[in-house]
Amino acid sequence: MKVNVLRREARDKHPYWESFIYDGPDDNTVAGLLDYINYNDDIINDKGEKTARIGWECSCMQGMCGSCAMIVNDRPVLACEAFLRDFKEPEITLKPLSKFPVIRDLMVDRSSIHESLIDNNVYIGKYSPQEDKDFEQDYTAAKCLKCGLCIEVCPQYTDGRTFYGAPFANDCYLVASRNRGKTGEIAEIYDEHFKKECAYDLACDRICPVGIKFTASMKKLNSIKRG
Ligand code: FES
Repeated sequence: MKVNVLRREARDKHPYWESFIYDGPDDNTVAGLLDYINYNDDIINDKGEKTARIGWECSCMQGMCGSCAMIVNDRPVLACEAFLRDFKEPEITLKPLSKFPVIRDLMVDRSSIHESLIDNNVYIGKYSPQEDKDFEQDYTAAKCLKCGLCIEVCPQYTDGRTFYGAPFANDCYLVASRNRGKTGEIAEIYDEHFKKECAYDLACDRICPVGIKFTASMKKLNSIKRG
């Protein structure tokens, strides 16, 4: 199977395509395929030339850390959960997520997700939940991996400077749900950096690899704001 990878040596370098031949097991995942191609110190491309290992990130290899998020055949996925058998195309094409700066090859810098939370004090602090707390929604919302797949498919998200995307809204809900004292403060930044620009496209709900219903978090946050 031919594997095409959009490579970039560093942030300031131009991207270019390089192809490889994958002759490993068919029942592998895309993460397994990358491991297989990267196995030797010098890997060989489809022209028989030695080349540097493909840069990509992983940690858990079981859909729990979000670090392997990338674009496979134009589909934003977690590489460790994307099985080759689920792609009908004869070739596999790998690209980094497009809404974050590329560090190298398939590795991107997702720190803007965390910075939006840090800069706006979106943390729980003193635990003081509302009386009618929805434990099930809290449990689901707390699974967010910050993988960036929802941001990739969001039609409103551009550079993350003003509109922060679904992970931000989701964490705003979690903080307001767990610390009633921060509701006013959270409501203000949520309105400013999420609500007024969200187009309610629902692409985030459909793509989330851990099944978070961001729209449910938004509805809950709106009801907390109303008191
Ligand atoms: S390596 Fe952790 S989600 Fe894929």
